[in-house]
Amino acid sequence: MTTHLDTAVAALGSARGRTLALTAFDDAELLAQHSRLMSPLVWDLAHVGQQEEFWLLQTGRGSYHPVFHPRVASLYDAFEHPRATRPALPLLSPGESRRSLGDVRGRVLDLLERSPAHDPLFAAGMVAQHEHQHGETMLATHNLRAGAPLLTPTATPPGRAVPHDAVLVPGGPFRLGADPAAEPWALDNELPQHEVHVPAFRIARLPVTNAQWVGFCAAGGYDDERLWSAEGWEHRRTAGLHAPMSWRPDGAGGWTRRRFGRTEAVPPDEPVQHVSFHEAEAYARWAGGRLPTEVEWEKACAWDPVLHRRRRWPWGGEPPTAERANLGGTSLGPAPAGAYPAGASAYGVEQMVGDVWEWTSSGFGPWPGFRAMLYADYSEPFFGGGYRVLRGGAWATDPVAVRPSFRNWDLPVRRQIFCGLRLAWDA
Ligand SMILES: [Fe+2]
Repeated sequence: MTTHLDTAVAALGSARGRTLALTAFDDAELLAQHSRLMSPLVWDLAHVGQQEEFWLLQTGRGSYHPVFHPRVASLYDAFEHPRATRPALPLLSPGESRRSLGDVRGRVLDLLERSPAHDPLFAAGMVAQHEHQHGETMLATHNLRAGAPLLTPTATPPGRAVPHDAVLVPGGPFRLGADPAAEPWALDNELPQHEVHVPAFRIARLPVTNAQWVGFCAAGGYDDERLWSAEGWEHRRTAGLHAPMSWRPDGAGGWTRRRFGRTEAVPPDEPVQHVSFHEAEAYARWAGGRLPTEVEWEKACAWDPVLHRRRRWPWGGEPPTAERANLGGTSLGPAPAGAYPAGASAYGVEQMVGDVWEWTSSGFGPWPGFRAMLYADYSEPFFGGGYRVLRGGAWATDPVAVRPSFRNWDLPVRRQIFCGLRLAWDA
């Protein structure tokens, strides 16, 4: 039987494998700032090790001699140093960073072998999720990088013809949030689980696709102020938005896009990504729908209306596989609509986990009875701060770092993340 210790060691190992693969390039690539929106890759590289040492090893033991000297460690404090300023810091070199990562990991594995108690295991799960979140961030950096491709995509299953219709989720009670017995690595903002009554609603079977978004562009959606919120319209005007990030007119009435160093025709059947919350909201209004609330989203994803209980994943209790969801970061993009019939939720909603993070209409706040976890500043400083919640994870998200209860949040103007949308309607 797999123990929690084995699970923690495996998750730390998979996160490290990905970190090293995404930084296995010349020093110049790692030191460059490829976009002002992102850190140089070498910052992420050392930051994951510094955080691992802080949360797992520097737990008040007075005699501890750190791998990351306090003066160096402070360079990797994300609150202290905004991304745009990070290239100017006296960061560790790529070689020094890799050595420090290895030293910290060796000490962490020793600690876990010696004291496989609950607390270090939760912290190890938190650290593994954190490193995987940076894996996703590093993919966003790679995506924005100019120059010839460094990464090669793996294949996804083909799409299938499936109606872009809506399914009804009847009104009734639902258990919102993570069950800590089933999800020992659930983070503080997913807890405590509690019952909510959700009025009936309809939700789209599939995410909005590029073909549908092209329709919005062609209909003048970006120029019709009535579709946008006041804040959204102001942003659309000042930022000069006219299409999703990195889309360009191809001169023949269609669109190309650039991603991971490749320019290609926009594939019609793929879920749209790199649209901001403001764009998603305008699209929804144009299409006669709205964005789901995050509570509606989670019910459509995880609730089993026959058994009156949650499923661990949309499809049931079995772990994600390549037939159920596009996760893990190797595909370098979403799979076409309809690619995962085996991943459908109890209500028949598809591609909720993986492919693209889905904007919801919800602001980010605590569930009733919220208690901050070990990393007390993970969620709480962001509650009520004008962020919008995204759900479901993207192709770039590792299975360790997403669950139906997992809540991501970002500013409504953000679009370099792997975000898209799905529509909902009142019933
Ligand atoms: Fe971080």
